Amino acid sequence: MIEYEAVAEQLRSQLSEKRYFHSIGVSQTAVRLAHQFGADVQKAALAGLLHDCARALPNAQLLSTAEEWGLRVDLIERCTPVLLHAKLGALLAARKYGVSDSEICQAIACHTTGGPGMTKLDKVIYLADVIEPSRSFQGVEELRKLAEESLNGALLAAYNQSVIHILHNGGLLHPDTVAGRNELVMQNRRELGSGGSLDE
Ligand SMILES: [Fe+2]
Ligand SMILES: [Fe+2]
Repeated sequence: MIEYEAVAEQLRSQLSEKRYFHSIGVSQTAVRLAHQFGADVQKAALAGLLHDCARALPNAQLLSTAEEWGLRVDLIERCTPVLLHAKLGALLAARKYGVSDSEICQAIACHTTGGPGMTKLDKVIYLADVIEPSRSFQGVEELRKLAEESLNGALLAAYNQSVIHILHNGGLLHPDTVAGRNELVMQNRRELGSGGSLDE
């Protein structure tokens, strides 16, 4: 595993102070969640640290770099290029920061939209990004409380808040967000044995 401190130092020169401290907060929160829910703690620390490593790139550069690196850009990403910082961040983590672990790269790649079939590590990073200590949006305390009890419960609530926020701002919902949320709702129903039908 590559050296955390060396990566942190390199990252610090690439991000604003605010985003760097956000990244440290995500890393520390991810470590706590990984301990709590049984994900790999070292991978969580590094994925949390690097999750926003491509976030400082302006929209035009996100699109041009994605094309240059042969990344498939879907219609929603083309209209909302900031989403690409997740997938590009995964590539950058590998190419620039020497991360060779595919699980870490995958967690970085899905930290913004979420998606179906997420691993425990993916969920930990998604949630840590939303609830790390410097986050102060309305409803964050409720998410932090939920995260003390249930990874999937907190993740579903975080999806719901994200969807509501996007709708409120007239934004575009990425299909991966919808698919990730729907998967959790269906899983919850199965677990609760509610007998709720999928078309209600
Ligand atoms: Fe991000
Ligand atoms: Fe972030």
